[in-house]
Amino acid sequence: MVLAFKNETFRDDFTFSNSPAAIRRFPFPFVEDKYMYSVNIEPHELGPKGSVYEFPIDIDEHYVSEMRDRALVLDADPGRCQALPHMITAQWDMLELLMTSMARDYPEHFSLTRDGNQWHWINRPLGIDHKFTFGDVATLPYQPMEYIGRQCQGDFSIQDQRDGQLWMDAGIITTQADWSLDFDVGMNFFEWHAPVPLAHQAGVFDRALKFLLNMQHGRPVRRLNWTMTINSRLDTSPENYHKWGIDRTTVTPENVGDKVHLRVELQALWRLPRSNAILFSIRCYMIKMRELATVPKWGRRLPRVLRTLPDEIADYKGLTRYRQTTIDWLSKYDDGAPTSLGGGPD
Ligand code: HEM
Repeated sequence: MVLAFKNETFRDDFTFSNSPAAIRRFPFPFVEDKYMYSVNIEPHELGPKGSVYEFPIDIDEHYVSEMRDRALVLDADPGRCQALPHMITAQWDMLELLMTSMARDYPEHFSLTRDGNQWHWINRPLGIDHKFTFGDVATLPYQPMEYIGRQCQGDFSIQDQRDGQLWMDAGIITTQADWSLDFDVGMNFFEWHAPVPLAHQAGVFDRALKFLLNMQHGRPVRRLNWTMTINSRLDTSPENYHKWGIDRTTVTPENVGDKVHLRVELQALWRLPRSNAILFSIRCYMIKMRELATVPKWGRRLPRVLRTLPDEIADYKGLTRYRQTTIDWLSKYDDGAPTSLGGGPD
């Protein structure tokens, strides 16, 4: 598949937008007209051609521009990429998983040739052609997680498993929805999830952790998570809150269509073979309300979901200030007709 990469920005003038094809494949997360936290984990199996599930690692039209934005974030704040020393084997596991997936599924854009430990990686969209020795950090310009993380859409964290827990001991996180790797690094599954409302009491995290501890190599799983973002800003980190927090006060009935974005994270989890760690990918997709409303089912469903969303969840996700303005704008697309089960367009 040959992709046409867009030249766009996720800061300053915010020129990001989706092509009609990208709108069509958007992973709309609401399977019914309401939303509540649950253990929504399913096998990360290959999906229909053209969908975001076609391949384990999804590369799309935003690839080159997203990688440029990541490089800007890392230049300004190297703390967005951190790994504890015992995670080096897991870093190589991650590099192998991503390089083999990308080269297999997007051969026009990436290639990997392996002769024992001598690897040759070519990334055509980013103009990279590099020979290195697998397992020898000195032959790469960065540590393995950062090297491949700068070339793959999505944030990644790597969890070490010990004492019946998962520990966030490494990550490259530049497009996060208001949480901080620098704060969370070294924490366990319950500690980094502590700020989430309602879900702990409902037993969601107990059950999710039990499931993850038993994950097997070769059987990845996935789930969708979502929030909303004002302007197409990828880097909505606590570190930069002073730059974007104020944007939430700028939503008016006139600009909802362009300013308010549904932000969906396709999160996949893999057991890694050498380290027994778990790789967690957070692949972010954004869509403007104006774009979303071109799909009749989504235009009907989203205002219903927002209207009935528990206040605790709306507050946690930071939607409270512009929730009603957005519902009012979307309501013209809701004619009251029933919607079909599942997230896809009808
Ligand atoms: C090891 C893999 C995982 C990692 C690294 C991870 C990480 C995170 C982080 C950093 C947050 C933000 C917390 C904050 O506000 O500071 C979060 C939120 C959340 N996580 Fe996880 N998580 C993982 C797996 C899961 C799984 C398997 C579930 C399944 C139920 C889950 C459910 C949630 C929920 C419901 C939220 C709140 C999200 C929202 O409302 O926007 N997480 N996670």
